[in-house]
Amino acid sequence: MCGDLRISDVDKNVVLNGWVAKARSLGGLVFVDLRDKTGITQITFNEDVPEDVLEKAKSLRSEYCIGIKGVVKERSSKNSNIPTGDIEVFADEIEIYSASETPPIYIKDDDNVDDNLRLKYRYLDLRKSKMQRNLTVRHKVVKCARDYFDEHGFTEVETPMLIKPTPEGARDYIVPSRVHNGSFYALPQSPQMFKQLLMVAGTDRYFQVVKCFRDEDLRADRQPEFTQIDLEMSFAGVDDVIEVQEGFIKKVMKEVKGIDVETPFPRITYAEAMERYGSDKPDTRFDIELIKLNEVFDGCGFEVFTKTLAEGGDIRGICVPGGASLYSRKKIDKLVTEVKHYGAKGLVWIKNDESGISSSVGKFFSEDELKSVLEKCGAGTGDIVFIVSGTSKITYDSLGFLRRKAAGDLGLLDDEQFNFLWVVDFPMFEEDEEGNIKAMHHPFTQPKLDELDKLDNDILGLRANAYDIVLNGVELGGGSVRIHDQELQKRMFKALGLTDEECKEKFGFLIEAFKYGAPPHAGLAYGLDRLVMLLLGEKSIREVIAFPKNQNAECPVCEAPAPAGDGQLDELGIKLSDE
Ligand code: AMO
Repeated sequence: MCGDLRISDVDKNVVLNGWVAKARSLGGLVFVDLRDKTGITQITFNEDVPEDVLEKAKSLRSEYCIGIKGVVKERSSKNSNIPTGDIEVFADEIEIYSASETPPIYIKDDDNVDDNLRLKYRYLDLRKSKMQRNLTVRHKVVKCARDYFDEHGFTEVETPMLIKPTPEGARDYIVPSRVHNGSFYALPQSPQMFKQLLMVAGTDRYFQVVKCFRDEDLRADRQPEFTQIDLEMSFAGVDDVIEVQEGFIKKVMKEVKGIDVETPFPRITYAEAMERYGSDKPDTRFDIELIKLNEVFDGCGFEVFTKTLAEGGDIRGICVPGGASLYSRKKIDKLVTEVKHYGAKGLVWIKNDESGISSSVGKFFSEDELKSVLEKCGAGTGDIVFIVSGTSKITYDSLGFLRRKAAGDLGLLDDEQFNFLWVVDFPMFEEDEEGNIKAMHHPFTQPKLDELDKLDNDILGLRANAYDIVLNGVELGGGSVRIHDQELQKRMFKALGLTDEECKEKFGFLIEAFKYGAPPHAGLAYGLDRLVMLLLGEKSIREVIAFPKNQNAECPVCEAPAPAGDGQLDELGIKLSDE
């Protein structure tokens, strides 16, 4: 391969195939950088070769696909930037397999080309060495998963793609049925119910590398179709799942990154994660934590704060070390706009620098009062404190965002540091925007059995045997112990306001299966794309998916989605409205 040859290969006869990365013609000499997925080798054609070979070499342009035969020689001027830089291949034969038009994008890792163009010509984009590396690392992670779970008694079982809606809670992609006009399949948001059926079936330990589909707003770590490493274990509880998963992560980190990670990973409760980091997926690579300031501001002269407290809200802050000089008024104004997305009505700041204490709310507080706030937040000279008031959720979301933003601005986010942790004891339920109760994970999640009385008197306080694995501020995977007791499952459905008919309609087959001896079981699913993204230090999962969708959920390569032909729609019994 083009990345293989070294000084020890000198005098060997070799054949290389690949693409022309660069071709330079200097009189009777032609130099070609030949590229394949493993690297680049310099090929040299000189006047000793037959004339037709030299002529062909002179005709080479970027991205021609060629093969050469030749002899490996030591280079007189070595190139220490590439692993093959000590040698070159003197070619005496060449075959041009295909010419290439001038490619619409450069095949260069740091080419700052428009993302849509990259995605449209993805097959050219994927020729870049970085992208080939990304695909290879993804493959290695999948291989690692298959090896590890096989060694630990898991069987990979494929589950169907044309199903009824799953309970993950996002919008479904639906597929019309030709045989049953007017009826639709849903593409799975996850194999959740089928993997539970496999537990009833006695499969004992299931796993699958599986495509999932969710029609939700796209983000850097969200695609409409993505891949899970999905698993389920019978006769298992929280600790069993966590132990097996830590072994898997340890193996991936060793085999893919060469890093020994320490296990067990820290576990923190959902409540603690929110209180300390303002997030249920905390990034713990840096120390900035939220501080509750209700007491400090109790009875203060600043109406916004006193009103928040009177309404039962909270006041929280963070101290950004070294932030006083980093955050100019202009930069703070930008942060104010950004925290508004999280519901904050404003952002109070107190700076402590050489020239003294200054604050956006200076006129409402004495210097001593401001000092005591700084003290409470542990702020020294050179630091800035940001404060948000509002509902707990608003303070958590705004400051959770801000602490990570500040860490980025301070250069504290090291891609080569891997802080895995478990967030446990999630609430069983949450309220949606309309105030309806819904399952935070899904309705088959087992609540803490010693807290069941809360179903009747403190439903939002009921916690679940649910857990997430988090890496550097990203939710890598999530799972739970499941309910296997029919009576308890009925109570949960009732709490969710589901009637018997609705339950039967949505989950009837699972409820039916549970009549025939369901074992206790628990499981988890990783987002494979996210795991690979973080291992590679990439900022978007698009960088680790061969053919991802763009921001508008389109595939720029094949231009899906596209209108269906009239004939197809007729067969499906579908008529499009004119509007
Ligand atoms: P959950 O919905 O938490 O759990 O999904 C598991 C993991 O899948 C990844 N993920 C995504 N990755 C990319 N794009 C998306 N749109 C996307 N949505 C989710 C995340 C997430 O942690 N059936 C349950 C698992 C279980 O209980 O066993 C489930 O799907 O990394």
